[in-house]
Amino acid sequence: MTDRAALAARFRDLFGRAPRLFRAPGRINIIGEHTDTSDGWVMPAAIDRHVFVAAAANGRPDMRVASMQFEGVRSQPTDRLAKAGDWADYAFGVAWALEESGIAVPGADLLIEGDVPVGAGISSSAALEVAVTHALLALAGDLLDATRITMVAHEAESAFVGMPCGIMDQSASARAEPGHALMLDCRTGALTPLPLPDEAMFLLIDSAVEHRHADGAYRQRREEVERAAAKLGVPVLRDATEALLAERGHLLSPEEARRCRHVLSENRRVHEAAAALERGDLVALGQLINQSHASLSRDMEVSHPQVDRLAALAQADPGVLGARMMGGGFGGCVLALTSRDAADAVEQRIVGAWRQAIGRDVFSFQARITGAPGEVPV
Ligand code: GLA
Repeated sequence: MTDRAALAARFRDLFGRAPRLFRAPGRINIIGEHTDTSDGWVMPAAIDRHVFVAAAANGRPDMRVASMQFEGVRSQPTDRLAKAGDWADYAFGVAWALEESGIAVPGADLLIEGDVPVGAGISSSAALEVAVTHALLALAGDLLDATRITMVAHEAESAFVGMPCGIMDQSASARAEPGHALMLDCRTGALTPLPLPDEAMFLLIDSAVEHRHADGAYRQRREEVERAAAKLGVPVLRDATEALLAERGHLLSPEEARRCRHVLSENRRVHEAAAALERGDLVALGQLINQSHASLSRDMEVSHPQVDRLAALAQADPGVLGARMMGGGFGGCVLALTSRDAADAVEQRIVGAWRQAIGRDVFSFQARITGAPGEVPV
């Protein structure tokens, strides 16, 4: 857990002033993976893991950024922000995106800390962007609604940092609703909060394969999906149908056909998952989660042999209703749906077996769906 008093004290040591504190949550994604870049549907939920930003105006023409995890203070003039190629880009990118949208960002000092695991597919970067957006808006004396905050954070990541991601992670962090899954239409931005049954528990287990260097593979998948859409004659795969695939599928390479099959089937699964949640049917939801994993592994090909092994291990546990890889893929965490009552025993069994299988320690946690962005007291 983040120690807010220690964060504020460190900020005073570094910058000689008292800060205000802001935070934004990481997310799980229940279902709807690799669909946001095709304008499809996703179902993330914000969790009780947050990135915190201590911030104060500095009365100077620059922005200074420090982190409790990394050495040194990064500094850039607010009127000439440029990508530097390290962790601080996410913060500078937000200032840049705010300026681009017409908001004058004051000179500011920021100190970053958090308990969202990095490289685990839980969206630590989106949480950082949304937290910094809240901080800089507050220092600028400006307000934006959650949808505009989402757009600023997404612009920071895609246009400044250069990661061609979809809108899911920033939406989940900026538009969080405690106790709810967020069914999001990535074309219209329409968000339907779905109450999660009390007995549902989502368990995260680290595969011990870091996905943080997977940007190239993600970009490649995105290009494949775009190529498939172009060959089918639709703007994005959201607009493709099974009928269109039957008619024009021969134009696709086998690989492109598999990517299509994933996106179309995953969009259908998100709707089926929403229906399952509405009738409180966690067994059906679990089956959809298992199917999502198979499709991500075989058709989208974004899993990893070690992640497949962990997902299979989790799926075989008698207390698990469904399990799958989560996030961009190529490593990161596996998400397992279990019941609140069984969660402790399930976690112990899976983590024990997994540690033994790979011969090293891994982290795991039960995700409480209580994440919320905004200013918090020190
Ligand atoms: C990453 C991206 C998201 C989304 C997922 C896959 O988390 O940031 O936009 O594409 O991968 O579903």
